Amino acid sequence: MNIAEPTSAVQTVYLNDYQQPAYWIDKTELEVDIYSGETFVRSRLTMRKNSSIEGAQLDLHGEGLELLEIAIDGEPLSEERYVQGPSVLSLTPETEKFVLETKVRIEPEQNTSLEGLYRSRTMYCTQCEAEGFRKITYYLDRPDVMSDFTTRVSADKSRCPVLLSNGNLVEAGSLDNGRHFATWHDPHKKPAYLFALVAGDLAKVEDSFTTCSGKQVALEIFVEEKDLGKCDHAMQSLKKSMQWDEQTYGREYDLDIFMIVAVDDFNMGAMENKGLNIFNTSCVLASPTTTTDAGFQRVEGVVAHEYFHNWSGNRVTCRDWFQLSLKEGFTVYRDSEFSADMGSRTVKRVEDVSLLRTHQFAEDAGPMAHPIRPSSYMEISNFYTLTIYEKGAEVVRMIANLLGPELFRKGTDLYFERHDGQAVTTEDFVRAMADVSGRDFSQFDNWYNQAGTPELTIVDAYDENAREYTLTVSQYTPATPECAVKKPFHIPLRMGLIGEAGELALTLADEIAEDLPEDNTDRVLEVTQTTQSFVFHNVPEKPVPSLLRNFSAPVKLKYDYSRDDLCAIVMRDSNGFTRYEAVQSLCMAAINDAMAAGEGGRFVLDERLPRVYRSLFAQAELDQAMFAYMLTLPAEGYIAEQQSEIDPQAIYQARSKVKSALAQALAGELEQTYRALSVDVEYSADAESIARRSLKNVCLSYLMDQPSDATLELCKTQFETATNMTDEIAALTAMVMSENAKAQAAAAVALSDFYVKWRDEALVVNQWFALQARNPAAGGLKRVNDLLQHEAYDSSNPNKIRAVIGGFCGGNTPNFHSLGETPEQGGYAFLAQQIQQLDAKNPQIAARLLTPLTRWRRYAPAYSQAMRSQLEALLEMPSLSPDCYEVVSKSLA
Ligand code: PHE
Ligand code: ZN
Repeated sequence: MNIAEPTSAVQTVYLNDYQQPAYWIDKTELEVDIYSGETFVRSRLTMRKNSSIEGAQLDLHGEGLELLEIAIDGEPLSEERYVQGPSVLSLTPETEKFVLETKVRIEPEQNTSLEGLYRSRTMYCTQCEAEGFRKITYYLDRPDVMSDFTTRVSADKSRCPVLLSNGNLVEAGSLDNGRHFATWHDPHKKPAYLFALVAGDLAKVEDSFTTCSGKQVALEIFVEEKDLGKCDHAMQSLKKSMQWDEQTYGREYDLDIFMIVAVDDFNMGAMENKGLNIFNTSCVLASPTTTTDAGFQRVEGVVAHEYFHNWSGNRVTCRDWFQLSLKEGFTVYRDSEFSADMGSRTVKRVEDVSLLRTHQFAEDAGPMAHPIRPSSYMEISNFYTLTIYEKGAEVVRMIANLLGPELFRKGTDLYFERHDGQAVTTEDFVRAMADVSGRDFSQFDNWYNQAGTPELTIVDAYDENAREYTLTVSQYTPATPECAVKKPFHIPLRMGLIGEAGELALTLADEIAEDLPEDNTDRVLEVTQTTQSFVFHNVPEKPVPSLLRNFSAPVKLKYDYSRDDLCAIVMRDSNGFTRYEAVQSLCMAAINDAMAAGEGGRFVLDERLPRVYRSLFAQAELDQAMFAYMLTLPAEGYIAEQQSEIDPQAIYQARSKVKSALAQALAGELEQTYRALSVDVEYSADAESIARRSLKNVCLSYLMDQPSDATLELCKTQFETATNMTDEIAALTAMVMSENAKAQAAAAVALSDFYVKWRDEALVVNQWFALQARNPAAGGLKRVNDLLQHEAYDSSNPNKIRAVIGGFCGGNTPNFHSLGETPEQGGYAFLAQQIQQLDAKNPQIAARLLTPLTRWRRYAPAYSQAMRSQLEALLEMPSLSPDCYEVVSKSLA
């Protein structure tokens, strides 16, 4: 055998270089024999030359594999017939059709990257997306190679009584030496990234679902025995998802069995492997005493998301990884609509938009900015981003809204039908939408190909004599790494006009009032040019424009609202989203006042904000969940996005000042509401009960800002007597986050009681870790280092890493952004050290933790300089992973 030179430099992959594979793999037969410490994988690939590609060389992907045998059509290959590099095995077969057999040895127990086959507590499991299958066997590990898989797994019967893979079980039985086997066949062709295998000591919960055509599907959730009582919510969510996808998209499930396995060590939330979804325990287990309401909602959303992938991702998959948003953006849109249908639509919209604006906008303004269909990458794992997922979903949402529900459904029907069993591109998706509607979506390409968040600046003018109202809309998108000058986007701008007595009828210049529908107060303007004017006729008074209703496009809206305008929107707009938005803008104005006053300066809260809140407290019909969000000040990340230069400590201080001022101004209302909502009601996880708890606990967090002794007692009582995790941890959080000395003292006691109570519940301990990591009190660096030494910490468990290191760096401004006396001190140095240690074990997680440092250019000089020097030090590391190399080098470029 020849050994190829290792390629040391990290390679960039380009969309424009896409070529079909030289070979297809019609059939994949695997035998995976698991032993303690080593696993043997035998693979039989039935291959066929792709006649449209010239050249007969076959380059198989493979990483960290010990090749034991290789044969073509039963003939062992002599060593001069193949070349083995660090990540490819090349050979030149002599016939167009042949069977390639290999046998490799791997060591799952040593696999800390959590990609490929690895061990997590009591089980062996796999994670193959995006390029993990090559760590299991030699293969064409690319999504356009779709194959029929048969998998025979064998292992020790007592250590691994459960043996699972994709598809349907075809055979199982005993073997010698206390071993047994199971053979699974998946009748649907799929790419290797959807392969999965699980072997371990697991218990299961069973149920079933009858599909619309009357087929009975077995539903099974596999967990560790101790967690059997926490599967009910996931099971209910799964059944709701199956039904919803039939009703909403006409999509029926296509195997006899659907399995979910819960794994403790997992890099992401969950994975949609065909018929065998693998979930992070945090996204599947739920019980009222251990899981918050947000946790319940996350389980429902993630179960739905993975289930929906069965069609949007599995039946129709991606041609290459540049098309990732084809499955992720669409599936996030689908799960978001599902959640909206299960709970409150406006509330779900507010949650999605907050996530997008706080985190995706920052990504779009930083060095890792990329279009939802990128044109190059170094490490695909770095592209599972808020842009691909959340912005991708916004783009699908714009298409769905432009088409309306019936046409959109026709479009998705056509897409699924036309491309069933294929690996396709985002263009194929848009083409289906254009074909059913006759609409021209060519300008929509810009949403797929250009990064950056458009700024939509709107100015208005009212001509009293002509009774004409003009909105002039201009768009500008700042430069991003891949492209400096942007072509204009096609932006649907949903709007209305608010008059003194209510909303005004909308008649554009070329319209005749009689032709318009009776309820004509809501409209989508299609902005397609750099600057464009819309003239409304018969406007009886100067209105306040209600703009970007429901956040109809992922843009930054710039319109110079006065505070009185905003008050008018809060009180009179019919659109729930815009009302929420107006309250947030009033909060932003107050935060800006506090920032302008400076650290020691006198800050007076503009009385319009508490006045608006008072009137909202009095509105009995207002959705309590909505009101809870309205009462929540904009997140620091969102505030940072509005600044030309970020001073994190100033933002934190200003936000705290506004919170304190509001707590004081609204003390009466807050306490009254808190008490009214605290009366004992039986725990339930429906939308109304969740809303009630969320409003109650927002009130509590204000009340705990400077609590009286009586208030502190209320909070302690809630903590001690709570019958559900939402109320319990909300009270604990209110104590920990309060700057008040008595509250902090109470927090210390409560934190240690909480640990004693919950030490055996890993997911609760994670919440406990995250809360302490976020504690803003002085001395945070010492505390976070202590947490890393805690008996319950585990430096190879991603959930623990995210809770402690992620919690500290992403949610503890006063301490993370403390600079320290020397460059080796301070929060940034702490993060860089942690990344350095983690990178050797789990590069994907290490690269993700880098995010806060990548934003260095946006910060005030002292912060910026300190972040940059940590990045420079990381770049010097000799063994930096490709994952981290890409993020660090692009950040410094
Ligand atoms: N495809 C998964 C999802 O979004 C996410 C994932 C990506 C999981 C890569 C693991 C690895 O549903
Ligand atoms: Zn997904």
